[in-house]
Amino acid sequence: MIAVREACPADLPALAALERACFPDPWSAESLRSGLARPENRFFVLEDGREVRAYAAVRTVLEEAELLRIAVDPAFRGRGSGRILLEEVLQAVPEAAVWRLDVRAGNTAALRLYERCGFEKLVLNRGFYTDPAEDGWLMQRGS
Ligand SMILES: CC(C)(COP(=O)(O)OP(=O)(O)OC[C@H]1O[C@@H](n2cnc3c(N)ncnc32)[C@H](O)[C@@H]1OP(=O)(O)O)[C@@H](O)C(=O)NCCC(=O)NCCS
Repeated sequence: MIAVREACPADLPALAALERACFPDPWSAESLRSGLARPENRFFVLEDGREVRAYAAVRTVLEEAELLRIAVDPAFRGRGSGRILLEEVLQAVPEAAVWRLDVRAGNTAALRLYERCGFEKLVLNRGFYTDPAEDGWLMQRGS
């Protein structure tokens, strides 16, 4: 059964494994630990049974929320998990009037996911990313 819940420290090894599998610049176990402990951050996991298959990290400041990360196990992609997770996350932070995120301009899967969840392209930031160099879209949801 698929379920989304808030992450806890016991999830840190699973989050670190997802980071390594999903990003060229993975967050270390230590950055994940300190990130999870920050009061302005909320981390969520999507589980299939008891297996963590995806996670998302959000930072909230007053009425603004920033999606810092979303990652789905490569073997579990293309089955709607990203969408289920992001929709749950959006609902879990009802105080956020505005959502923002940055995404690599060539990340077709993420762009599609974000647009399906109501984000719109706001600004194309030239050379926003390094390693590899790439433009980034700032996307926004809400006014
Ligand atoms: C981006 C990511 C989270 C999507 O997760 P997912 O579980 O595969 O996404 P879903 O199955 O829920 O699909 C969501 C939408 O994206 C589309 N999509 C998914 N993979 C796609 C791909 N490779 N190319 C084009 N569209 C794609 C789906 O078709 C769906 O759109 P639809 O409803 O119009 O059909 C996943 O690819 C991932 O973890 N990527 C690596 C990490 C990353 O880049 N994160 C984002 C930046 S932090």
